[in-house]
Amino acid sequence: METNPFKFGTVVDGSFFADREDEISKIASFIKGENHLILISPRRFGKTSLIRKVINESARKYIYLDLQLIISPDDFASQLLKRIYRIFPVQKLKGFIKSFRLIPSVILNPVTGETEISFKPGSGDLAPLEDVLNLAEKLGKEDNKIIMVLDEFQDIFRIHAGMDRLLRSVMQNHNNVNYIFMGSSESMIRNIFEKKSSPFYRFGSLMTLEKIPGNKFTLFLEEKFKSKTSRYSELTKIILAVTDSHPFYTQQFAFTVWELLERYGYKEDITAIAADEIVQSHDNDFERLWNSLNRTDMAILTGMAYSNISPLSDEFYGLYGTGASSTVFSALKRLAGKGILIKERSGYIMDDPFFKRWIIARRKI
Ligand SMILES: Nc1ncnc2c1ncn2[C@@H]1O[C@H](COP(=O)(O)OP(=O)(O)OP(=O)(O)O)[C@@H](O)[C@H]1O
Ligand SMILES: [Mg+2]
Repeated sequence: METNPFKFGTVVDGSFFADREDEISKIASFIKGENHLILISPRRFGKTSLIRKVINESARKYIYLDLQLIISPDDFASQLLKRIYRIFPVQKLKGFIKSFRLIPSVILNPVTGETEISFKPGSGDLAPLEDVLNLAEKLGKEDNKIIMVLDEFQDIFRIHAGMDRLLRSVMQNHNNVNYIFMGSSESMIRNIFEKKSSPFYRFGSLMTLEKIPGNKFTLFLEEKFKSKTSRYSELTKIILAVTDSHPFYTQQFAFTVWELLERYGYKEDITAIAADEIVQSHDNDFERLWNSLNRTDMAILTGMAYSNISPLSDEFYGLYGTGASSTVFSALKRLAGKGILIKERSGYIMDDPFFKRWIIARRKI
């Protein structure tokens, strides 16, 4: 049995990684320079995989922190320091830590080999975070900067109200750290970096990550399916038509088709069976998601599942009874904010092609 050449849900690299050649060279040249980078894309387009790949190839020291899981400024400081301990020898850090305004407790877990850090919780003080960020600056070198990736950066506001001001005031003095800010909430990230009144206004260059181009993804899929079936070209076409080249859903769909090929060999309706399997396996999630929506959201998504007409048009309103266009407009923004819709140049589309299928299938019952 061959191992499935597709992978979804976790960071991909090596043979699981497709294309991104232009993005790789652009980011690689970026981190050699003086500038900071802001990378935006909807969920699961491949930000983390892309950044990891570029950094690994650069052989530079880096710190990666996802702010989604950070609960307080102290936690932010602890998690950053923990990652600094991973890349620098303890002896080197000792002297620096001694000069911190609040001395953290540092415990080496003998089982995992990981360092557990904690600042006295609940001090409400921003000094630990400031000290840790400045430590990174001291450890980096002008010609060998540390790369610090802060993922889901829009979460700073949830962690602490004045976090943007504090971070900016510290980071603007740093010359030995390359910051990479990432986020999946496009409007929030744009507000942070493009609004004149924001402390981070024009702090770095903004790059939006698109889906993987259809022709590149075609080559990637065909090459893998070739070893399994002579119908590789048709399969690839159908898969990409359903997923519209969305990196995650394409891998998920291709993975499932591969499993079926492995079990039963090629069948005419193999892609339909695979799609049904995916829809069914997410029935609970889709149902929960659906029940969290209001009436306007439901009407819009139903219309979008059945047709490609713009939800803002009179025709759409006539067909699906979605209400006044101002209501629809704010609903579209809200659904995009939740990641259920993606805003593309041509307009809004549904993120998950299988949610779309679920809506249609449920309405048939
Ligand atoms: N370059 C790529 N080639 C092939 N598949 C990819 C690529 N990038 C991403 N994917 C697919 O998308 C999935 C999500 O990738 P990744 O976790 O890097 O995205 P992300 O944008 O960081 O997601 P999140 O919004 O969850 O943080 C991967 O598991 C993989 O299936
Ligand atoms: Mg990610």
